[in-house]
Amino acid sequence: MASTRANVPLRLQLYRQLRGAIEAGTLAPGSRLPPTREHALSLGVSRNTLLWAMARLQAEGYVTARVGDGSYVAAALAPQAGVRVPLPPLPQLSRRGQAIAETHARWQPPLVAALPFRIGAPEVASFPYALWDRLARQIDPRERQRLAQYLDPAGHAPLREAVAQWLWVARGVRCDAGQVLVCSGSQQALDLIARLLLDPGDEVLVEDPGYPGIRAALLGQGVQVRPVPVDDEGLCIAAGAERWPAARLAVVTPTHQFPVGVCMSLARRRELLDWAERCGAWVVEDDYDGEFQYGPHRLEALTSLPQAGRVLYVGTFSKILHPGLRLGFIVLPAPLLRPFAAARAVCDRHAPGDSQAVLARFIADGHLLRHLNRMRELYPRRQQHLIQALAEASEGRLQLAPSAQGLHLLHELGPAARRGPQDDERLSQQALAAGVMLTPLSRYALASPRRGWLFGYAGYDEAELTRAAQRLAPLLGQLTAPR
Ligand SMILES: Cc1ncc(COP(=O)(O)O)c(C=O)c1O
Repeated sequence: MASTRANVPLRLQLYRQLRGAIEAGTLAPGSRLPPTREHALSLGVSRNTLLWAMARLQAEGYVTARVGDGSYVAAALAPQAGVRVPLPPLPQLSRRGQAIAETHARWQPPLVAALPFRIGAPEVASFPYALWDRLARQIDPRERQRLAQYLDPAGHAPLREAVAQWLWVARGVRCDAGQVLVCSGSQQALDLIARLLLDPGDEVLVEDPGYPGIRAALLGQGVQVRPVPVDDEGLCIAAGAERWPAARLAVVTPTHQFPVGVCMSLARRRELLDWAERCGAWVVEDDYDGEFQYGPHRLEALTSLPQAGRVLYVGTFSKILHPGLRLGFIVLPAPLLRPFAAARAVCDRHAPGDSQAVLARFIADGHLLRHLNRMRELYPRRQQHLIQALAEASEGRLQLAPSAQGLHLLHELGPAARRGPQDDERLSQQALAAGVMLTPLSRYALASPRRGWLFGYAGYDEAELTRAAQRLAPLLGQLTAPR
């Protein structure tokens, strides 16, 4: 850093370098910059050189100074939630690298603690953090030391045991702990499945509309994603099998189809399992929010059926606890466990030992069930509140249909109200400008003509839901176009 490039003063070079880092997001909006003395030292420049660069960045609005509290990257530089940021020109990537980079355009999981009605966000305000910390402190010191070393890539044995027992009680899935592979959420599960069971160019059936995170994991591995429509009974497997006879795998959300919300009928489940047997194909069951069924009877997982020998069950703690935990799992046919564990080891060795140990205790001591039961009471109340708040804000014109499942509601446009391929997107942009995240159904569609808007409610208290509904009020007329 101390050397100068021909004719460009060092302070100017430094200013440009910092500005570039802010523009690229390497220095994140709102983040605190180090104190100038230490910062100058680490950059190998004099403090005056740095102060000159900082003063210029401040004058141009890149940096804000707070008296007595240092300097911050301007928060106003944050991209608006939901707005797609174009990729800068890519350096030379491999074909596979290019495929992975391009998933950015199709799926950008919102990183900010987003606005209501963002979908998929569980309640995090009343999570039992103190209990979690207490369980961590209670780990025996010898066990702590053991957990501080390299661990089994398949997962911490007590956690695998606890998951196997939990699945039997909560989802009707009978499996042995030796079939459970702990992974970093269902996203990693999908990535591992694509790497180990598919070759580039292989065809995979996905639900349309469906979850872009699934498609991104597949596309990133060079797999061909084949969209299959979803009707009131779930994925139309007969149509998919006829149109794409070479498909080697299907990914489904049978308990609560994402994002439409239907539950796959028993007849359709059996048809799907028959297809897998007949074709030697795999079925991936993504049971992302299967625990959130609010009616008196809870439907068990597809994997609980006796014919489910070719199903890989993917579970996650992202909804039932919180997504920042990054813990999930796959239930695999026993012979697949070792190859999957090897892939996990190659990728990132294993999940953090401490979190796995605390989660194992959290499940085994009954806290998971207690937390789940609290959420099963809370979410239907929030859902009811959302429906009422929107009905009031729209003076009775918008009546969302309630659902006995999940963490979000869908308001779908009838065929008569559909005009263009993305005619739900415009209103979503207007809602975003009003401070409300109203995800359009078209963002989840590939070939599907279905359009509408999704309302996540689980992660917002009643006051937040009311405020968001009121902010939407001037736009609600557009939502209630003839169906
Ligand atoms: C359909 C679906 N599957 C899986 C997930 C969870 O992903 P992860 O376990 O990687 O957090 C989500 C989260 O929004 C989802 O909507």
